[in-house]
Amino acid sequence: MTHTTTTNHWTLPEPPPSRTDIPVPDEEQCLALWDRFEMLDNIRRHSTCVADVATFLAQKAKDQGHDVDVQLVRASALLHDIAKTYAILHGGNHSQLGGAWMQEVTGNPVLSSGVTHHVYWPFAIDLENHFPQLAVLYADKRVRHDTVVSIADRFEDLIERYGSTEYIRRRIQATMDQALEVETAFTRFIKVDLNEHTFDCGRME
Ligand SMILES: [Fe+2]
Repeated sequence: MTHTTTTNHWTLPEPPPSRTDIPVPDEEQCLALWDRFEMLDNIRRHSTCVADVATFLAQKAKDQGHDVDVQLVRASALLHDIAKTYAILHGGNHSQLGGAWMQEVTGNPVLSSGVTHHVYWPFAIDLENHFPQLAVLYADKRVRHDTVVSIADRFEDLIERYGSTEYIRRRIQATMDQALEVETAFTRFIKVDLNEHTFDCGRME
C-alpha cells in the first residue's frame, strides 16, 4: 500500500472512501452540465485534457487490479472547473463552489470532493482510499491550458501569473511540493514514470 503523509495537512476528518452504489454521470451528462453551468470554451478544452490524464491514471490502476472506478475519476475531472465561469464573472472560490454544486446535482460525495479539493488536498496522500480525488488534483497540475506540461513548468506559469506577493508565492510553492509528492505516490502505485509521460491529450513542451 502506498501511503505517505504531507507535512502540513490539517487534522480534518477525511472524506469517505469510494462507494459503488451511487450513480456516476456518463460523458454525455457531464457535457450537459458544462452547458448548464455555461462553461467557457477554453475551460472545456482544459477540462477534457485533465480528464484524459486522470482517465489514464485510473485505467492503468484498474488494469493492475486496483479497485478504481474509471468513469467516476473521469467525471470528477471533467467537472473539476465547473464553477470557473461563475467565479470569473462574480468572484468566489471556484473549487468549493463547484464541489457544492456537484454534490447537489450528482449526489456523489467522492465525485464532488474531487472538485472541492482539486487545488490542494488537505489530508494524507492515500491512494488506496482517495484515488479519484488525487487523480483529479494531479491531472490538473499536469495541464496548462490544454497542453500537458511537467509539474515544474505548470507552477512556473502559476507563479508568473498569480505570484504577486510573498505569501501567495509560498502557498503556490507548498501546492507544488504536494503535487510532486502526489506524483511520486502515483508513479509507485501504477508503476509508470509520470514525470516523463505525455499522456494522449498534448505534448510536453
Ligand atoms: Fe480549477
